[in-house]
Amino acid sequence: MNYRHAYHAGNEADCVKHALLMLLLRALMRKNKPLFVLDTHAGTGAYDPASIEAAKTGEWRQGIGRLLEANPPELADYLDLVRGLGLYPGSPALARAILRPSDRLALCELHPEDAALLKRRFRTDPMVQVHRRDGYEALGALLPPPERRALILIDPPYERPDEFATLAAALGAARQKFPSGVFAAWYPVKHRAPVRDFLADLAAHRIPDMIACELLLRPPLDPARLNGSGLLIVNPPYGFEAEAVPVLSALRATLADADGDATITRLTDE
Ligand SMILES: C[S@@+](CC[C@H](N)C(=O)[O-])C[C@H]1O[C@@H](n2cnc3c(N)ncnc32)[C@H](O)[C@@H]1O
Repeated sequence: MNYRHAYHAGNEADCVKHALLMLLLRALMRKNKPLFVLDTHAGTGAYDPASIEAAKTGEWRQGIGRLLEANPPELADYLDLVRGLGLYPGSPALARAILRPSDRLALCELHPEDAALLKRRFRTDPMVQVHRRDGYEALGALLPPPERRALILIDPPYERPDEFATLAAALGAARQKFPSGVFAAWYPVKHRAPVRDFLADLAAHRIPDMIACELLLRPPLDPARLNGSGLLIVNPPYGFEAEAVPVLSALRATLADADGDATITRLTDE
């Protein structure tokens, strides 16, 4: 396990994922019923832009740095939370910041050092359970939750060449185990072919009600660069697609090149 999210926290891809995550959580919290949030690949929870790792790549400057400066009103909810939390919040800190007393957060992280940091961060928090375990395996173990309402974020590092295939199979199995769960899976867009294969693979699992939200920073032609990213969502909450349009447009206007693009594609019907 070589991947450490501290080098990449707050980059363009993180901002797309986290702005959409906030929107999903807010939509699910409109119903006055307990919600379970499962983050299968959680990282350390929050990151310091002044750390050695962040300084080494400076990636956050192109992402959250530009968004905080441009301050588009469509992203106010997300940006206000980032400002309020101080450090760059990862998905665990963002979700925890808006949980209601009836909700519950479970975090899985496999890297020993990152899992230890995550455990330390939430050690006195009764609403958060931290597991040092394989996030894919946790999908089988922790779903369906007693609350019967859940958002599951699957955010692997794509270190392994078979990560897309592993994710498609895990999503297919988890959706079968828990058909009403809202699943959000992040994926990188370097060039088109792996994403096309991933979506074709998913089609074989016959998962209904699935959309893909993508932000391309530039046309995905150079496979050596992260040219964009996407969030695949199963069972998007009512109203989410309409709300995601202005959020993705604002992300595109601030982060993408002139030939970038922002799209929401419905892959399968309800
Ligand atoms: C992209 S980062 C997660 C970032 C985090 N979700 C956020 O948005 O702040 C991916 C994380 O997954 C961890 N990881 C890799 N393989 C894993 C596995 N099989 N199960 C759980 N965590 C894993 C890595 O150590 C890394 O911290």
